[in-house]
Amino acid sequence: MTINNEERIKSFVARKGRLTKSQAVGLNQLDRFSFNADHIDLENKSVYLEVGFGMGDGLIEMAKLFPDVLFIGAEVYPCGVGHLIDRCIKENISNILIFHDDVYKLLPQLHRSSLSQIQIFFPDPWHKRKHQKRRLINKSFLDHVIPLLISGGRVHVVTDWADYDKSLNTLFKSVNILKRISYSRPFYRSKTKYEKRGLGLGHKIFEHIYVKI
Ligand SMILES: C[S@@+](CC[C@H](N)C(=O)[O-])C[C@H]1O[C@@H](n2cnc3c(N)ncnc32)[C@H](O)[C@@H]1O
Repeated sequence: MTINNEERIKSFVARKGRLTKSQAVGLNQLDRFSFNADHIDLENKSVYLEVGFGMGDGLIEMAKLFPDVLFIGAEVYPCGVGHLIDRCIKENISNILIFHDDVYKLLPQLHRSSLSQIQIFFPDPWHKRKHQKRRLINKSFLDHVIPLLISGGRVHVVTDWADYDKSLNTLFKSVNILKRISYSRPFYRSKTKYEKRGLGLGHKIFEHIYVKI
């Protein structure tokens, strides 16, 4: 499936940041961890996709909890990618593959019915009305990711922005093939940097978990 340019909204700000020494060392090893479709075919494991893992600490914790799952993490932020790889090497974690680019370039490389879970924790809120069209999770995004899920596969989205929550409620209600199964935090999701930031601002956390029927 190809995705044309009009559908490919830019949902992120290209944050450069200054790499720490260990992040730079990690980023240098990107080839070892880079997503490769052939690799997935050979592994024969359940596959979870996390979009926008940030610094990746939550993804590391999940990879440890579920050693039999293969995780693909998509992230454009170099410091986060470097940090994640550095931790994978130091902690000997081998069930994470990284796609260091816009997830919209990854989606056409994934097979239909190949993912058991798609998770997006604290997507950029784009809270100003004029920027809301840049939100990652919209109808077009769901149209592209739902076919990649197996039947019984899950979509897990969390936000601390009440207005994003409202639009997610409307969006997900319009998708008959997804059924909401939970409103609360599952054991496997650890607190991320952006969750802590939201809580510090006094925000409520909105947990959306759906299953593909
Ligand atoms: C607000 S941060 C949340 C990071 C992390 N999940 C957390 O909770 O701390 C959103 C992240 O999504 C990434 N992102 C946004 N759009 C993306 C895209 N199209 N492809 C890959 N990463 C994306 C950004 O670079 C950013 O690191």
